[in-house]
Amino acid sequence: MPRLAKDTPPFVGRKQPPKGCRELLGTEHFVFGAPGRGVHAIRKPPKPMLPLNSLTRAAYHCRDSFQFDLPELLMLNRRHFFYSSAAAAAGLSFSALTTLTPESVHAASEELACHLPTALPDPALYTTDESAYWAAMRTLFVIPADTAYLNNGTVGSSPTPVLQAVFDSYFECERLSQTDPEDYPIWGYGPFNKYRDPLAAFIGCTRDELAITRNATESNSYIANGLDFKSGDEVLMTDQEHPGGEHPFNVRAKRAGIVVKKIKLNLPVKNAAEVLNAFNDAVTPRTKLIFFSHITTVTGVVLPAKEICALARSKGILSAVDGAHVTGMLKLNVHDIGCDFYTSSPHKWLQAPKGSGYLYIRDEVIDRLWNTIVTEGWDEPQRRAGRFQQIGSSNVPVIAGMKAAVEMATAIGMDRIEKRHRTMADYLLTQLQNRGVESWTSPDPALRGGIITVNATPIIRTEIEAWLWKEKKIRIRGGIPPSKLRLSTPYYVQKADLDRFLAAFDEYRKLKHL
Ligand SMILES: Cc1ncc(COP(=O)(O)O)c(C=O)c1O
Repeated sequence: MPRLAKDTPPFVGRKQPPKGCRELLGTEHFVFGAPGRGVHAIRKPPKPMLPLNSLTRAAYHCRDSFQFDLPELLMLNRRHFFYSSAAAAAGLSFSALTTLTPESVHAASEELACHLPTALPDPALYTTDESAYWAAMRTLFVIPADTAYLNNGTVGSSPTPVLQAVFDSYFECERLSQTDPEDYPIWGYGPFNKYRDPLAAFIGCTRDELAITRNATESNSYIANGLDFKSGDEVLMTDQEHPGGEHPFNVRAKRAGIVVKKIKLNLPVKNAAEVLNAFNDAVTPRTKLIFFSHITTVTGVVLPAKEICALARSKGILSAVDGAHVTGMLKLNVHDIGCDFYTSSPHKWLQAPKGSGYLYIRDEVIDRLWNTIVTEGWDEPQRRAGRFQQIGSSNVPVIAGMKAAVEMATAIGMDRIEKRHRTMADYLLTQLQNRGVESWTSPDPALRGGIITVNATPIIRTEIEAWLWKEKKIRIRGGIPPSKLRLSTPYYVQKADLDRFLAAFDEYRKLKHL
């Protein structure tokens, strides 16, 4: 194992650490420092190297840099375990670490200072100073402080309590030291009740109606593939479905001759009635399923899910809701919605780890759905929706992270989260409308949430998107047509971030004479 010699020269202002340090630090690190003044190892975006409590936090310390005292570093020579662990915590080259034991890592984790908070702000702060509360919440997110991330609609960002749960779970899993030898790490075969129960409570269903999947696309595919359709049967959807919602049905159309029919949503959708009428008018005797996004990817409009599902039920038609954006953005109760299926990607607004999703199936229709991914258990109806999580070996830490995300949202309170999402989105929308930009966001507050969409002609979205990121560290996204800007206001975004976006938007228009 490489060690730092006691006479290691100070590496003031060096771009490369001296030999010995280099093996430890890896060549991708920019190192500077001075004797007694501390050593900074600036590195590429930090990757946590170890799945442990304070190690994990320390690895994220200052997000882009890590600092420790040179004398302390040298001392590590003598204290092998601490040396290894401190290096790992600093995100240093793992290949340099040859003897790492769980015990040494645990011991080191005790010794290392905890620099990144994982505790939620005091709920009392919300009452006295709401914006201070949300500003404190922002420190749990590892998105660099100078970045305004307004693209949560694509993916969210897991905060430290979620990362912590993921890393801790990895560490536990990878030790392969389960007390019960039958508890071998083949976790794609079990009931996952420990993880299903909190999620079921969070979305308002029973454990047996819930399957943990990897995302909404997978869950939508289970529905499209698993229902008994005949050639000529119709599936009705909107013209604003995400490819991960629409295409599973397109495959079925091509293979089995079902018909995918679309209703047109106005830009913007002005009220619930126009959506209900459009669905009602498009239903035929051959309609077997109404599939729609609870919140659409195209404009972020919140469709009247409960009413659409009631309409479907009244006509003997199944209803499937793509709620990719909803979990964690708005309060959700799938029983109250009354749908037959509900799918989601909690790695968006619940800030769960990427690759965590779910499929809700109303108890009465579970037996009507065939499995798509199949291993043993598919023909055991007593497993209920659990049949659909029998997918072979699976990634438990991601699911542990989703559980932590549920716990975090519950601790904050979905009332507060939803209010924050709506307030921030409304502020941004008003400000853009004040600038004369055309809104494609519903004027009905009930039909909008944490996503707003504007048609900012003649701005070309891809151009402003690139400019905002390069010049201002502001991340947005849009989609087609060319001038559509879709902006997300997750609770960790601050009002100052929105003001920064608005100022940049003004600057861009002036710069380009638009
Ligand atoms: C409405 C909707 N459905 C499905 C998806 C696909 O999500 P995922 O890639 O997590 O499966 C998205 C992604 O943005 C979406 O907006």
